Amino acid sequence: MSGFPLMSASIIKKAVETLQAGKLVALPTETVYGLGADAANPEAVARIFAAKGRPADHPLIVHLANVASLSQWAEDVPQVAWDLATAFWPGSLTLILKKRPWVLLSVTGGQNTVGLRVPAHPLTLELLAAFAAAKAPGAAGIAAPSANRFGRVSPTAAAHVWEELGDKVSLVLDGGSCTVGIESTIVDFSCGTPRILRPGAISPVDIASVVGCQLSVVSDGAGGTGTPVPRVSGSLAAHYAPLTPLRQVKSSALAGEVARLVHAGRRVAVLAYSVCAPSNAGSVFYWQTMTPEPAAYARVLYANLRTLDALGAEVILVEEVPPGLAWQAIADRLKRAATG
Ligand code: TXA
Ligand code: MG
Repeated sequence: MSGFPLMSASIIKKAVETLQAGKLVALPTETVYGLGADAANPEAVARIFAAKGRPADHPLIVHLANVASLSQWAEDVPQVAWDLATAFWPGSLTLILKKRPWVLLSVTGGQNTVGLRVPAHPLTLELLAAFAAAKAPGAAGIAAPSANRFGRVSPTAAAHVWEELGDKVSLVLDGGSCTVGIESTIVDFSCGTPRILRPGAISPVDIASVVGCQLSVVSDGAGGTGTPVPRVSGSLAAHYAPLTPLRQVKSSALAGEVARLVHAGRRVAVLAYSVCAPSNAGSVFYWQTMTPEPAAYARVLYANLRTLDALGAEVILVEEVPPGLAWQAIADRLKRAATG
């Protein structure tokens, strides 16, 4: 990584050169930081898998500069997919579409579909545009999974990337803290009727406003309809997990559970949004109060899980979040963090 501050134009130039050389650039998006490489360069793509320790059959999302470049990567794109792209890009929506024959199988995990998204971060949009200009008229895309080691909590600040993968990336672009904080919503068009493979900040209601009907949310790799579910590493039961065991506890039971563990001499870290730290629990190890507003909660969730994970607590207790669509994506991530 360069050791001195560069102006935006020169850092973008350096990032383009790094990508062209087949090396890795960590980049900010509005959701989480990505570990980027030239999606058309097989050696560069292989470096992503090596750096993350990610199994080779897990597909990567290709980040594009704009909606129009979608057709360079995907074919037989349904009108409704165009409508979603037009409505939500740049933004935290990934579309799974039939890939063009030339798209690398190492990017798609051996599948005939490709995940595409235009991220909504000014620095990365600038990089994507400059990378596309350098490649024109060829297709330009940056393959980028979340910039964490496989199975771990996604990074939402450049310093998190540096902690996890600092020795594996050539350049970390610092674009500040991510404003959404959890990974994009994934809509899959590979099996006829579109469906949501991973809930995110763009909700089923937002999607229904464009598609005209509510899509089913496929979770835990079970389609419910017998249709095969494409491999989505973010859909593995254990994912986004801290190393400290994490348990979800109902709001009504949280204070009692904390008191019980503390009396048993256990070191406990707590993440709560509505329950206050119990005064009679003895010496609670750590109590993190979260906001009760879901978008703001999501924005800081991963950073707080990182902090709690680093405390050396024996267990992280997380107050269960309310039911309902507004909390669906957060509930999904907490469930996986608890399984890890
Ligand atoms: O918000 C995000 O989506 C972030 C930022 C960096 O864009 N990226 C991200 O990447 O979360 P990753 O690799 O951690 O998760 C992407 C998910 C994976 O679960 C992957 O399996 C799925 O997208 N995916 C990508 N291409 C796919 C395909 N062709 N079929 C099914 N799932 C796919
Ligand atoms: Mg990930």
